[in-house]
Amino acid sequence: MGIDLNPGTAALGNPQLISIIIDEMDGGAISFERFMELALYHPEHGYYRTGKRVGRDGDFLTSPHVHALFGWCVAGWCHWLWTALGRPEAFTIFEPGAGDGLLAGQILDWAAGRNDGFANAVQYVAIEPNSPGNDHRISWTLEPVPVESGVVISNELFDALPVRLFEGSGRGPVEVMVRWDGERFVEVSGAVASIEGAPQLGRFEVNARAYPTMEAMCGLVERGAVLTFDYGYAREELWAEWRHQGTLLAFYKHTAHEDPYVHVGEQDLTAHVDLTELEAAMAASGMEAWDPVSQAEFLYALGARELVEAVRADASEYFRRRRALEELADIAGLGRIRVLAGTKGVELDGPPPGFEPLP
Ligand SMILES: C[S@@+](CC[C@H](N)C(=O)[O-])C[C@H]1O[C@@H](n2cnc3c(N)ncnc32)[C@H](O)[C@@H]1O
Repeated sequence: MGIDLNPGTAALGNPQLISIIIDEMDGGAISFERFMELALYHPEHGYYRTGKRVGRDGDFLTSPHVHALFGWCVAGWCHWLWTALGRPEAFTIFEPGAGDGLLAGQILDWAAGRNDGFANAVQYVAIEPNSPGNDHRISWTLEPVPVESGVVISNELFDALPVRLFEGSGRGPVEVMVRWDGERFVEVSGAVASIEGAPQLGRFEVNARAYPTMEAMCGLVERGAVLTFDYGYAREELWAEWRHQGTLLAFYKHTAHEDPYVHVGEQDLTAHVDLTELEAAMAASGMEAWDPVSQAEFLYALGARELVEAVRADASEYFRRRRALEELADIAGLGRIRVLAGTKGVELDGPPPGFEPLP
């Protein structure tokens, strides 16, 4: 006798989360942005609230997970800033979206390995709402207090923020909404919006949280900098007419695909950021925004190659670092992440390290 093996909503992801989303829809539709927010950040069942997500055992890799080399380069940049600020006694490093604190640990280890007062000056404040780590050297908070001198760093924070999704039409951009049809999540058309410069055709995303998030980051330091790493493009490239499908992607066990409605609560959802908007938010917050560079350019300009050559006598570590730098600078992968810096109250003769124009 055949039995019924249909797993129901479990075939689409986390059944508890799916049922919460269906309840919220209440027979109607919610915006894609709200769907993405629940899928990633529902307080109990959201993707970032459950399980270990980043790393070789997770769904995607971020730079700190490749090798501490990445954190050492960021630490070197923070140390340069501390020096440029006149070596203040207290220097705070804020990190929104710090995840499990891996980058923080690499930076703090680098600082501890030196003997020039930097480690004593540094206070590390991680701002992470989801499953924060437990490194006792780090203060974990959701309500950071602005300081006089410091730096705000972030790695892949903006591309993890929920986005609004639109479809270009003759009437203007139509917002993509999501509803449950009894078996799966399906898209329906919402209201027509008015968005300056928006593409006439195809899909595109609007990250409504990016600008206020960058403004809040800039407001954390009176004198200092913001240094942010994220996948993104200048607006004209992000909204180019030829880009018919936008940049929204799902990551599940290191495979990228385009369906946000499977593996719900079990896969990452990400969209590229609008660098033009982030630069505008920096400028409006009193920061001097420097032209973005690729992560590959940034790491090489800072001297990451020297960190590899420094261990030539130790063959296994030498090849480990060499492979890591290749991965961090791979222009088909992590190396194409864009690095954006804004500075304020810092005496500079030119761009900060890593941002000098290429010869
Ligand atoms: C793609 S992960 C990157 C984690 C880490 N920075 C790394 O490089 O491995 C994005 C992180 O941003 C966090 N996040 C999302 N929204 C946030 C917000 N508004 N404030 C602070 N962190 C946030 C998420 O919880 C998640 O840990």
